[in-house]
Amino acid sequence: MAGTTFDHADSAAAADPTPASTPKPASTPKIVYRVPAAEDGATVHALIAECPPLDQNSLYCNLLQCTHFADTCILAEADGEAAGWISAYRPPAERETLFIWQVAVHERARGMGLGRAMIDALLSRDATRGVTGIKTTITPDNEASWALFRSVARRRDAPFASEAWFDRDRHLGGRHETEHLVAIGPFGAFAGNQF
Ligand SMILES: CC(C)(COP(=O)(O)OP(=O)(O)OC[C@H]1O[C@@H](n2cnc3c(N)ncnc32)[C@H](O)[C@@H]1OP(=O)(O)O)[C@@H](O)C(=O)NCCC(=O)NCCS
Repeated sequence: MAGTTFDHADSAAAADPTPASTPKPASTPKIVYRVPAAEDGATVHALIAECPPLDQNSLYCNLLQCTHFADTCILAEADGEAAGWISAYRPPAERETLFIWQVAVHERARGMGLGRAMIDALLSRDATRGVTGIKTTITPDNEASWALFRSVARRRDAPFASEAWFDRDRHLGGRHETEHLVAIGPFGAFAGNQF
C-alpha cells in the first residue's frame, strides 16, 4: 500500500471520480472489495487495533462478523493488504436498515474515498436488497466519521438525522463518550425516487 491514490476500477462500487483516461502513478494500488471469511478474522482484528478510537472487540466477535454476518461485512484489500473494513448487519426487527457497526480505514489509505466506496459496495450487494437507509452511531468528537456519513447522505440524496442514544453515564458506565444514533434515509427522498 505504498501509493497515494487508489484504483477502485474493478470494485462493485467504482467510486473513483477520476476519468478512466487519467494516467495513474505506477504505484497505484489496486483495491479489491470482498466478502470476508473466517480466515480474515485475525487480520480484521489487527486492522481495527490500528484504527483508534474504534473499540477493540474480541477476535471471536470479529470471527462471528466474518462468518454469520459476512454478507453484510466488507474487507478492502490494497495490493493484497487489508486497508479497510466495515462490519454491518440488518437488525432483525428493522430489515430495511443497514446498521453499520464499525468502519476502519488504515491510516495510509484515508481521505481517498475508501470508506465511502465500501459503503457503496455493501449497498450494491444482493444481501442488502430492500435496504432503504443506514443507521450507525458516532461519538461527538469523531469528525472523520461525521464527515463520512454526511457525505454518504448527501450523495444518496437522503435526510440525515442524529440524536444521543447510548448515554455515557446511563449506558456506558461513564467510561465512554455518548454514542449518537445517526439515521440516513430513505435514500433518494429529496428527489422523490425511493431507492
Ligand atoms: C472515519 C474513516 C473510516 C473515514 O474513512 P476514509 O476512507 O478516510 O473516508 P473517505 O475518504 O471515504 O471520505 C468520505 C468523506 O469524509 C470526509 N473526511 C474523511 N476524513 C475526514 C477528516 N479527518 N476530516 C474531515 N473530513 C473527512 C472526506 O473529505 C469525504 O467527504 P466528501 O465526500 O465531502 O469529499 C477513517 O478516518 C477511520 O478509519 N478512522 C478511524 C476509525 C473510526 O473512527 N471509524 C469511524 C467510526 S465507526
